[in-house]
Amino acid sequence: MIPIKDRDGIAQMRESCAIAATVLYRLKALVQPGISTFDLDQAGRELMASFGARSADFGYQIGSRRFPAYTCLSVNEEVVHGIGSIKRILHDGDIISLDVTVEANGYIGDTAITVPVGSISPDVARLVQTTREALQIGIQQAQVGNRIGDISNAVQTYVEARGFGVVRDLVGHGVGRSMHEEPQIPNFGRRGVGEKIKAGMTLAIEPMVNLGTYRVKTLADGWTVVTADGLPSAHFEHTVLTTDKGPEILTIPRPSAPPASAPPSAISISQTTTKPV
Ligand code: MF3
Ligand code: CO
Ligand code: CO
Repeated sequence: MIPIKDRDGIAQMRESCAIAATVLYRLKALVQPGISTFDLDQAGRELMASFGARSADFGYQIGSRRFPAYTCLSVNEEVVHGIGSIKRILHDGDIISLDVTVEANGYIGDTAITVPVGSISPDVARLVQTTREALQIGIQQAQVGNRIGDISNAVQTYVEARGFGVVRDLVGHGVGRSMHEEPQIPNFGRRGVGEKIKAGMTLAIEPMVNLGTYRVKTLADGWTVVTADGLPSAHFEHTVLTTDKGPEILTIPRPSAPPASAPPSAISISQTTTKPV
């Protein structure tokens, strides 16, 4: 059964998703050549705490393993679930997937972007752009009355038409009180298959797209997923609420408060000082 969120659940999801997205974009601002993925992860932990949230990744258990970091930071050939390390320093030309999953008041928000470090090659830029677009194409299919396979097929068709490989071993998912709820949302598949989409579902849609082969493997750390051929991979993710009026992206950052010293805006100046002539 796919959980349907009620009014209160939706309000809580709005909160956790807004926090996740706000943390994500604060992290993005820190990405530059010379920073380590460990420092980014620590910044993620502090940002979540500053918003009254906690990492849903830290301690997340699969089998007997617990995830040891606060965010998933995946560089170049790393697809997802990369673990921040003082040894992994970002360099000009790298790309990094920042994947932030927070829990606030018992509800989870999950969102990711892939960010260039300095200037990247045209091939890699096209990979990142295609993955960003594939997420939007998938979200457009999250319509009440459609089926999950409509999302999967739209993503796969878009990505493969551009010559890239779409990862099959990992999927998007329902998200709510748990990080991974039903349904699974593959990024490949056939239209018209899978469960029917109803209003009030919260779905994490997350294409992972490879420059070369779609095949991936997991490193000896038990978490980091990398491309089988060592070529780069990109990843974007939103948590989406399904409604009768269409999909609504919940993982939108909150505008940051202006600094205390900020001057009044132009509008308020003209409104308070301009007299009619
Ligand atoms: N954020 C990931 C997702 O999109 C899940 C990370 S679980 C972790 O589903 F344990 F690897 F952190
Ligand atoms: Co995620
Ligand atoms: Co996810």
